[in-house]
Amino acid sequence: MDKTINLALIGASGVVGQKILQLLEKKNIKINKLFPLGKSTVGQTIHFQNNDITIGDLDSFNPSDANITIFSAGSSVAKTHARKFVESGSYVIDLSSEFRYEEDVPLIIPEINGSIIDLLEKPSLIANPNCSTSQLLMVLKPIHDKYGIDFFNVATYQAVSGTGKEAIAELKSQTYEGNTEPKVYPKPIAFNVIPQCDIFLDNAFTKEEMKLVWETKKILDPAIEVQATCARVPVLNGHSEAVFLKSSNMASRDEIISCIEGTPGVCVMDDPDNLEYPTPLEQANDSEDVYVGRIRSQQIQNDTWVSLWVVADNVYGKGAALNAVQILQRLVSSNKL
Ligand SMILES: NC(=O)c1ccc[n+]([C@@H]2O[C@H](COP(=O)([O-])OP(=O)(O)OC[C@H]3O[C@@H](n4cnc5c(N)ncnc54)[C@H](OP(=O)(O)O)[C@@H]3O)[C@@H](O)[C@H]2O)c1
Repeated sequence: MDKTINLALIGASGVVGQKILQLLEKKNIKINKLFPLGKSTVGQTIHFQNNDITIGDLDSFNPSDANITIFSAGSSVAKTHARKFVESGSYVIDLSSEFRYEEDVPLIIPEINGSIIDLLEKPSLIANPNCSTSQLLMVLKPIHDKYGIDFFNVATYQAVSGTGKEAIAELKSQTYEGNTEPKVYPKPIAFNVIPQCDIFLDNAFTKEEMKLVWETKKILDPAIEVQATCARVPVLNGHSEAVFLKSSNMASRDEIISCIEGTPGVCVMDDPDNLEYPTPLEQANDSEDVYVGRIRSQQIQNDTWVSLWVVADNVYGKGAALNAVQILQRLVSSNKL
């Protein structure tokens, strides 16, 4: 039986919103009514499933017209409006960090903890994890299941698309037109690496770094210890991560590779002799997969140390649009809509 999907998409004009629309079309998900909503683009049209649809104003939208709503417009918009949509009977998927750490809000990567969605009894808020967390946990999950991860350290190399359309424009104008005045970032991003993503917290870590800690514990296992360094790099799209993990069970390089291989949504690209490893320029092109390469393993006393290089499309892929669309699909398959 066909389900009725009346979807409000807040942030339809944004970097992520555009990719959500693209994925809904690609996956042939039948949307009965689409309400693209925004602020500065109200009145403009978007083309979706052979129709031109006008972007409406979020502030004057009646939330009860939607039974599913995706908020892709940042924390303050979600904070102001998301609960109102839930109270009006809509499931809400929020891509911002506003609700991720609230105890009663599930934080979902469908392949890992999607079964939580099946248990929802009424329209609820569902949080989409941070881009760096999602791509990382997709790779760590099979390793943790088989070999038990005690600790990992991750250094991220995050693309400017992770900060939205103004950040992409800033990198382009600094690179191609020589403008150096930073607006989105605290320092020039062209030809530079900025060891700060999001704000600094009292513990000297940035909020982006702590998101990796909090979200790993909430989604995968509260016993895993995590330390992170997040840097913004002058890459247009595609986040890269250098991961170092410690597991208490022995695992050779070949064993780690065979344990990851075959994981849905993860692609191993690891052939050093043929210079095969993922890079954001080559792999982050509207790709749904998370790529992992440069896999190394070492036995130190009783522990195994493993190093990995993980790359994914942070906008189209698991970091944002794809994960949100998969949550929507899970709501449909578990008869919530
Ligand atoms: N980019 C990523 O890699 C990534 C990854 C994970 C999560 N996210 C999250 O995804 C969300 C969207 O990010 P983005 O990169 O797509 O940002 P973006 O390109 O800057 O787009 C922001 C969108 O939000 C809308 N918006 C802003 N203020 C609004 C308001 N007051 N009322 C209604 N709509 C409003 C804008 O609409 P108008 O253009 O009409 O003003 C625009 O469509 C954010 O929550 C972000 O944290 C992004």
